[in-house]
Amino acid sequence: RAAATAAERGRRLVIVANRVPNPRERAASAGGLAVALQEALAEREALWFGWSGQIAEATSTRPRLARHGRLTYATLDLGEGDFRRYYQGFANASLWPMLHYRLGIAQFDREDYAGYRAVNAAFAAALAPLLRPDDTVWVHDFHLFPLGAELRRAGGAAARRRIGFFLHVPFPPRSVFCALPRTEELLADLAAYDVIGVQTEEDAAHLREALTRGGHPEAARRVGAWAAGIDAKGFAAMAERAARGPEAARLRASLVRRALVIGVDRLDYTKGLPHRFTGYGRLLAGFEGRHLSAVTYLQFAPVSRAEVAQYQALRRELDELTGRINGQYAEFDWVPLRYITRAVARTTLAGFMRIARVGLVTPLRDGMNLVAKEYVAAQDPEDPGVLVLSRFAGAAGDLEGALVVNPLDPDAIAEALDRALSMPAAERIARWRQMMDAVTTHDATAWSRGFLAALEGGAALAEPGGKA
Ligand code: ADP
Ligand code: G6P
Repeated sequence: RAAATAAERGRRLVIVANRVPNPRERAASAGGLAVALQEALAEREALWFGWSGQIAEATSTRPRLARHGRLTYATLDLGEGDFRRYYQGFANASLWPMLHYRLGIAQFDREDYAGYRAVNAAFAAALAPLLRPDDTVWVHDFHLFPLGAELRRAGGAAARRRIGFFLHVPFPPRSVFCALPRTEELLADLAAYDVIGVQTEEDAAHLREALTRGGHPEAARRVGAWAAGIDAKGFAAMAERAARGPEAARLRASLVRRALVIGVDRLDYTKGLPHRFTGYGRLLAGFEGRHLSAVTYLQFAPVSRAEVAQYQALRRELDELTGRINGQYAEFDWVPLRYITRAVARTTLAGFMRIARVGLVTPLRDGMNLVAKEYVAAQDPEDPGVLVLSRFAGAAGDLEGALVVNPLDPDAIAEALDRALSMPAAERIARWRQMMDAVTTHDATAWSRGFLAALEGGAALAEPGGKA
């Protein structure tokens, strides 16, 4: 790693994100934001401020502090009503679907929106007293669009501090974004940040247009694209170790030499799981029956946002699809689809990814998708597996070695699986090398360094329409 810049050494980094990882939990918190940030935070003094994950009678006004080395966590409980309106409501039933191009299922409720604004104001009020004059503040994701503006309103030193924002999810075309009521206010909120980061150039172009046409042309010039990444070398080493461990041995023994296909996603409707399961069913049904009893698909899908109706419906749909596929194709000694709705330890995942001949990552829309990068990093360089990747994941931008599919087409998924399962070693190695280069170059450190250089060092941003 390159040495920290002078600016980085001197200043504390304050991360504000709704999700704060629980350092005591063995299973990594499932979610790209927490993973990218944890892997980027290695070397500087930092404060991570956000929701405790707990629901209380009322939203707390004073954060609970916990120190872990150079990182301090400051967390607030959410009151039941705030949790419902802000997190389940506006963030996850309005913004999340809309930002993933799913206007048809986006809901809007004025009370939810008021709750969203209230929680942002409460976060800012609780954070302001913890801030030091030379802190750099970096706000994350769609839960907290208004936070920077709220901190500026709080006045004093907080008003003049450098405050940056990064959006981990896609930014859709302006016509989609502006279809949701009150989003013109969210654009004004974004204009309060010094730097606004998104995952891809496509997202950046959409956001610049929305800002410009929303009356904030000067804010459009503060937008840049920085692709989030993982600690590729660390993940590779972990996968290598874990593949020699007892859990990997158990998995291998259970496969009885069948090829393994792996999927790892939060149980979320943006991940394209029903299409994926259907595509796998078609792989088994077609291709002259050559995949029957020859392949096993292991899907991890930890339950996420379980109180939101759309997520409950998805879970029922997947329970049914899994039952149907297994009922139809299983043999008395082979289960074609193993489906697990729990989170597992990160090292276990890494080892399993290394064993898998195919990594199946087919979101209908995804800001970046770190699982795709993890699958690449986990592979054995001498005998790597094949990544089947949705063209609608940000990660498809630089993973050219993947078999890229349209995730809405189950037959295309089946064909890509068939091709992946029979791909010769030389082609697998060539494809993997390209991807491993990309994952190593665009890693978590490069992502946070790039963004923070723009925020703290005032590194030049792209002209609208240009490259960041
Ligand atoms: P998202 O941010 O939408 O959840 P990403 O693919 O960017 O999607 O990030 C998901 C992160 O959560 C990855 O680091 C992945 O390894 C982790 N994860 C997903 N499923 C599980 C699981 N069952 N157990 C543990 N970690 C998981
Ligand atoms: C995505 C979002 C994150 C979120 C994560 C997990 O990665 O971009 O902001 O933390 O999903 O979702 P959750 O609702 O459990 O925080």
